[in-house]
Amino acid sequence: MAAAMEEMEQQGLVEGDEDAMTGPMLVELLQQHGIPAADIKKLKEGGVHTVEHLAHAPKKQLTEIKGLSEAKIDKMQAVAFKMTPMGFTTAAIVAEQRKEVINVTTGCKELDAILEGGIETGSITEIYGEYRCGKTQLCHTLCVTCQLPVDLGGGEGKAMYIDTEGTFRPQRLTQIAERYGLSPEDVLNNVAYARAHNTEHQMRLLTDAASMLADSRFALVVVDSATALYRTEFNGRGELSVRQIHLGRFLRALQGIADEFGVAVVVTNQVVAANLDGGGAGMFAGPSVKPIGGNIMAHATTTRLALRKGRGENRVVKIIASPSLPEREAQFSIGVEGVTDAKD
Ligand SMILES: Nc1ncnc2c1ncn2[C@@H]1O[C@H](COP(=O)(O)OP(=O)(O)OP(=O)(O)O)[C@@H](O)[C@H]1O
Ligand SMILES: [Mg+2]
Repeated sequence: MAAAMEEMEQQGLVEGDEDAMTGPMLVELLQQHGIPAADIKKLKEGGVHTVEHLAHAPKKQLTEIKGLSEAKIDKMQAVAFKMTPMGFTTAAIVAEQRKEVINVTTGCKELDAILEGGIETGSITEIYGEYRCGKTQLCHTLCVTCQLPVDLGGGEGKAMYIDTEGTFRPQRLTQIAERYGLSPEDVLNNVAYARAHNTEHQMRLLTDAASMLADSRFALVVVDSATALYRTEFNGRGELSVRQIHLGRFLRALQGIADEFGVAVVVTNQVVAANLDGGGAGMFAGPSVKPIGGNIMAHATTTRLALRKGRGENRVVKIIASPSLPEREAQFSIGVEGVTDAKD
């Protein structure tokens, strides 16, 4: 399936028929609009692999790419603007485009039901909650389910996993693959993994990610966790504002990836007591824990899911924020086979 898609994209590339292509337009297409191959190569070295990225990136960021003058950037962006819709459209067209959004099953029917199908492609979903409440397990499950055919709740694509905590376990993928009747070997080969060691490295991995996402069909990008390294590298209130700026940049780059490649981006986040980490809820109302990252995190993520421990081995998940889903709760449990329906 993925191979067929790649072939189609290749054909689209050769024939230069942008309209016939679904998915991102690769920067190679710029050559047909008079941009020299050498400049395209520099763009790619600078982490820009798609025409969409070129059109959407602030000029300030593009001029940081080695070997490309401002005049060249202007010329290339002018071409990119013509190739990508950047102005107004109609709600009807947006509705048509939204039909391309796929929902990837979480492994739990009740959770899929409140999410109206599962984790959505093309945007960022944040999963936050206390330790051991199942964030990493849900990420592992999605790495397998995203490989399923669309009619079985999958995204027919590979998964990418950026691990900042060292809790990625391929053996869990093997176990979950067996549940879905997938070949464990194929499942493992379809998950690209990287361990991020510091926040700069975490950011740099997104540049590598872009080239891989441009090369083959991915359905999911996981960052587990998005905030842990920021939290340990930047200390106290004194460094809070720089931390937030850097975290904001990382999340913006992730959003770019979700937009450009139409992948589901899932980030996990830890929580702190609500009265720590920069003040917060009053004594009387509100939750006793809150996610890390403040407003920057809240605004950068499209859907926010809060996890907590429930009765027995069950976990409770609540939709905290979504542009289209009501605040609802569901229960799930964690088994050898990953995230499953709650047990009573
Ligand atoms: N093979 C398994 N079978 C059943 N349950 C498992 C299995 N592996 C892990 N779990 C369950 O998953 C829990 C850990 O969940 P997970 O690692 O997803 O937590 P987390 O929310 O990512 O926590 P943290 O904030 O520490 O990263 C374990 O406590 C255990 O209950
Ligand atoms: Mg975890």
